[in-house]
Amino acid sequence: MKTRITEMLGIEHPIIQGGMHYVGFAELAAAVSNAGGLGIITALTQPTPEALAKEIARCRDMTDKPFGVNLTFLPAFAQPPYPEYIRAIIEGGVKVVETAGRNPESVMPFLKAAGIKVIHKCTSVRHSLKAEAIGCDAVSVDGFECGGHPGEDDVPNFILLPRAAEELKIPFVASGGMADGRSLVAALALGAEGMNMGTRFIATKEAPVHENVKRAIVAASELDTRLIMRGLRNTERVLNNTGVERVLRIEREKGAALTIADLYGQVAGVYPKVMRDGDMEAGAWSCGMVAGLIHDVPTVKELIDRIMREADDLIKQRLAGMSRA
Ligand SMILES: Cc1cc2nc3c(=O)[nH]c(=O)nc-3n(C[C@H](O)[C@H](O)[C@H](O)COP(=O)(O)O)c2cc1C
Repeated sequence: MKTRITEMLGIEHPIIQGGMHYVGFAELAAAVSNAGGLGIITALTQPTPEALAKEIARCRDMTDKPFGVNLTFLPAFAQPPYPEYIRAIIEGGVKVVETAGRNPESVMPFLKAAGIKVIHKCTSVRHSLKAEAIGCDAVSVDGFECGGHPGEDDVPNFILLPRAAEELKIPFVASGGMADGRSLVAALALGAEGMNMGTRFIATKEAPVHENVKRAIVAASELDTRLIMRGLRNTERVLNNTGVERVLRIEREKGAALTIADLYGQVAGVYPKVMRDGDMEAGAWSCGMVAGLIHDVPTVKELIDRIMREADDLIKQRLAGMSRA
């Protein structure tokens, strides 16, 4: 399939794997790129810029296809050394960066000077327009359904994507709730040039996470996610578990007086316990409502081939048949 995104990124299929903390290691990024999509390493999962440089080199050993790096700007207490992480990305010869969190204006000159395509992930039309204005090459439009941080506007993709299409000149991909060929065709119909998936890629053979995580996603329905940290304007969609129920109880008890300090002990350091050790009750980890559409754990290539086959059948048979009729 050829879209503005496949052309821009030099990939075969318009499918991107979004950055994911403690999931976006070289194994998954390389598998997605080898299957014709764009795999993405998550920079801040690497403890240091030197470790990121090694992870990029490891990924390059596993694929000769393009892959990207996600750079998430945290609303954090301890800011990571972003300039050094950016140097590792540039010196590693990476040609695509997915930025997320606050807008990447301050780092754009460095990324653009290195010939890097910047895809900014954002959750509103106004942030997408800002990304366009500061020179981003594309945006990943993340609807309210998404796993991770959906922002505070709560606009689902059936509205958000066509609104983005009305306003943007740069291409965009649909993110949040994307799982299969139906998602891809719908996203294209709404004006996107492809799709970005997070949760769906965790339930694949190559995703380097504990089997318990994959099982939990397959077992979950679309009713099993919760929104936490609303009161801090740092909303995160996570899979419900006893740790999440603890967070929600604290949030209810503290009400308007809630601060990050009240939750810190509940949310800090959870990812390695869940993703590496498979401790599914350790606390909150991002997961999309799309879990309700995930029923198996295929290889990345099986998944991407299936999506493209389904999309092709939908367009050529179901939709073309309706159009003829
Ligand atoms: C476990 C997990 C961790 C994530 N970590 C990050 C992250 O560190 N940085 C980021 O920009 N997005 C992160 N995301 C968001 C994804 O990149 C993507 O935007 C989102 O998962 C799309 O929604 P979906 O899960 O419905 O496909 C994460 C998502 C998940 C499920």
